[in-house]
Amino acid sequence: MDLVFHNSAMVNIHGKLIFNIYIVFYCSAIILPHTCICSQFTSSSNGQHNKDPGAFTVATNGEPFPWHELRLPTKVVPLHYDLFIHPNLTSLNFVASEKIEVLVRETTQFIILHSNGLDIMNATLQSEEDLRYRKSGKKLTVLSYPAHQQIALLVPEKLMADLRYSVAIDFQAKLADGFEGFYKSTYRTLGGETRTIAVMDFEPTQARMAFPCFDEPLFKANFSIKIRRESRHIALSNMPKVKTIELEGGLLEDHFETTVKMSTYLVAYIVCDFDSVSGTASSGVKVSIYASPDKWSQTHYALEASLKLLDFYENYFDIHYPLPKLGRFKFHIIVFIRTCFDFFPLYM
Ligand SMILES: *[C@@H]1O[C@H](CO)[C@@H](O)[C@H](O)[C@H]1NC(C)=O
Ligand SMILES: *[C@@H]1O[C@H](CO)[C@@H](O)[C@H](O)[C@H]1NC(C)=O
Ligand SMILES: *[C@@H]1O[C@H](CO)[C@@H](O)[C@H](O)[C@H]1NC(C)=O
Repeated sequence: MDLVFHNSAMVNIHGKLIFNIYIVFYCSAIILPHTCICSQFTSSSNGQHNKDPGAFTVATNGEPFPWHELRLPTKVVPLHYDLFIHPNLTSLNFVASEKIEVLVRETTQFIILHSNGLDIMNATLQSEEDLRYRKSGKKLTVLSYPAHQQIALLVPEKLMADLRYSVAIDFQAKLADGFEGFYKSTYRTLGGETRTIAVMDFEPTQARMAFPCFDEPLFKANFSIKIRRESRHIALSNMPKVKTIELEGGLLEDHFETTVKMSTYLVAYIVCDFDSVSGTASSGVKVSIYASPDKWSQTHYALEASLKLLDFYENYFDIHYPLPKLGRFKFHIIVFIRTCFDFFPLYM
């Protein structure tokens, strides 16, 4: 859902909130991944096999790219992502690293991941379960095939079925322009100063602009996210913060709890300097509204409206959906008011 939207009327704020909260409940019920998002993939994958079976796919460096289809192979599946993101809101880029724990289902010579516009610095492979990869960090050859937004990691020796491996990748990129991937956005303070924040929108297939990943909704995995930032900023993500570490030079690093198993497009993180107000709905769900100082006047209204709507929808869904499903999700919902009155929820 691209929630970009312009409004000045309260009516729209209302409509938007209803929509957002509705979406949150949808996501929470894990209905979305199976219906709308999946249909997009199934429809786009059909007929996207190479039309000419003899054609051979060439990577950017001229070597043959080992995979020809738009959909990823299913020989390797992700189990867990350890994501470290270090955005700089001054230089407007980010450096990052990730460790993806994967399970190999069928013997293979390569791992295909989505990646779009990322500068991959290196990739290594390690495994506790495969003696040949026990020693840390066997370097992998990385090939890139931008037409399919894919990279291939070629392994020196075949990966064995039913074993787990850990792929480590260092990468960097500019914070994107526009409203997709991990992008920069600005707002003006009451004093007239322009400030930058970093926000993401990964739906339906833009997570690959922020980190190399299996960017199809059926490849669900747990995510552990760490974000490095300056002390004047805050970082938000899907999950509550476990701790903040102070680094030499004054930077801070927030570590967030591991998520449930979920699709890449649900991953969320933001670095900004916004303030928040919070409240609790009668069901026990906590709601926080984050906004820039110039939008501060809207936050209390937004909070009040969110809490009322949440109560309304909980009652509403109690009637229409089996209770246990809703009862499992005691979220902390974050509504994030963006610069131009856009807002969208994160849930914790
Ligand atoms: C990978 O690249 C990063 C960033 O340039 C560097 O710090 C790291 O040492 C490199 N790792 C390997 C194994 O080459
Ligand atoms: C961003 O870069 C500036 C220098 O260009 C530095 O002072 C600042 O600490 C950096 N911030 C982060 C979060 O790395
Ligand atoms: C991954 O998520 C599942 C629930 O979806 C949870 O049971 C499991 O503990 C999580 N794994 C980790 C390592 O947190």
